[in-house]
Amino acid sequence: MTNEEYHTFIQPYGDASDVLMARLNVLKHNLYSETSGQPIHNIQNRIKKKESMEEKLRKKKKEPTVMNAKDYLQDIAGIRVICYFVEDIYNLAEALKRQADLIVIRERDYISAPKPNGYRSYHIIVGIPVYCLDGMEYFPVEIQLRTMSMDFWASMEHRILYKMERDDREKLAEELKEYAEHLVKIEGKLEQYSVGHTILMET
Ligand code: GTP
Ligand code: MG
Repeated sequence: MTNEEYHTFIQPYGDASDVLMARLNVLKHNLYSETSGQPIHNIQNRIKKKESMEEKLRKKKKEPTVMNAKDYLQDIAGIRVICYFVEDIYNLAEALKRQADLIVIRERDYISAPKPNGYRSYHIIVGIPVYCLDGMEYFPVEIQLRTMSMDFWASMEHRILYKMERDDREKLAEELKEYAEHLVKIEGKLEQYSVGHTILMET
């Protein structure tokens, strides 16, 4: 695909992402209550780069064209929501799914069922209606909901290991899996303290 084709192609994906960002910000303020506190630590978004789209298509044995990108890639627009607690993630996911005009394309709960390597996150691909002059079309946006500790682990694993060749891979993978288990425990502990903290603040 040419640069020009790429830029024209990603435009509605950017629009879909903007719509979803606005909705997530509304939810962020909405779910905020005196007892539970702010659910979202931060939100990041990105549009897949041209090179990375082409690379992914080649891996899927498809020609790197915009037509194929539209048909085979569902993570062209991506939003990462970093929450404080696991409960916040499920609350947010439920609130999003209740929004009548968007469609759920795919959902993966790697929190209740982590990947064998230790990866945890909640993924939802939603279709966002984008209206243009001649009608409406759904554009997919991949949302990854994570806690700060899930994000820490995934970012490190991505940096050190994900899709990369190295000699000490097996040993590192083993170690990372162990750290993932530690982090689950730490997260659980902090979850308990947070309830205590709230009660303390209220009395
Ligand atoms: P991809 O082809 O990588 O997009 O995977 P998929 O289509 O099977 O979807 P999945 O929901 O498993 O993963 C989507 C995205 O989640 C990936 O592009 C990564 O950003 C993230 N992800 C999934 N698994 C891992 C993992 O083991 N480690 C890290 N660091 N990120 C992961
Ligand atoms: Mg992906």
